[in-house]
Amino acid sequence: MKIIVTENHLESCEKTAKIMMDIINKNEKPILGLATGGTAEQVYEELVKLHKNSNLSFKNVSTVNLDEYIGLAPTHDQSYRYFMNHHLFSKVDINIENTYVPLGNTEANAELKKFQDKLNSTKRHFQILGVGPNGHVAFNEPNANLHANAHIVDIAESTIEANSRYFNSKNDVPKKAFTQGMGDILKAEQIVLLATGANKSDAMKSLLLGDEISTECPCTLLKTHPNTTIFIDKDLATLIGYNG
Ligand code: GLP
Repeated sequence: MKIIVTENHLESCEKTAKIMMDIINKNEKPILGLATGGTAEQVYEELVKLHKNSNLSFKNVSTVNLDEYIGLAPTHDQSYRYFMNHHLFSKVDINIENTYVPLGNTEANAELKKFQDKLNSTKRHFQILGVGPNGHVAFNEPNANLHANAHIVDIAESTIEANSRYFNSKNDVPKKAFTQGMGDILKAEQIVLLATGANKSDAMKSLLLGDEISTECPCTLLKTHPNTTIFIDKDLATLIGYNG
């Protein structure tokens, strides 16, 4: 794992966007694994800037997202499909048919199969990741056992709590989600995880300060991946006592 401490989260996002631009430019048919969440928002802003100012084209790009809430329609402003359309897809020249986010408001088992088929047939050149306060990646929640493949998950109580900041109330947060499994995520050729904010301290301590890999902190599985970069801003690095 390559660990890069940045001055601030904006620098982490700019650097991630540049990596993604290089991947898009050097592959004939780039396939990107995308993530939602506040952490990734500025990365998409930077990509939109690169599209406008540096001729970055998404014409040949395909994307697969990490996860989606079950029960939310794509038009719901907290659905991950809505997030992607709003922050990136509607602002660049991507063919929307080449983007995939599981559909949250359809028959779940059929959609799950479609999701796994999509993952099996698309080899991701790149995967962007955020991390949950409890170390979850996508919606792979801490557990004695984790899944390799896409699955339907009961979202952890602490994640419902953490994500409730995006909803009107905690009761509005869906209780289930589709998620890529850890095996799917680790198949991406290159992974970048970004972390900012004091609430990510415990997860980042487990990821950066120790050698342990534990399914009780899913992000630690990234230690097994041969091409993963972690961008952590200076404030969070200092807070957890990481000094290179
Ligand atoms: C959600 C998503 C994750 C994301 C995490 C952190 O639960 N399923 O993919 O990484 O939250 O989100 P944020 O960046 O908003 O803190």
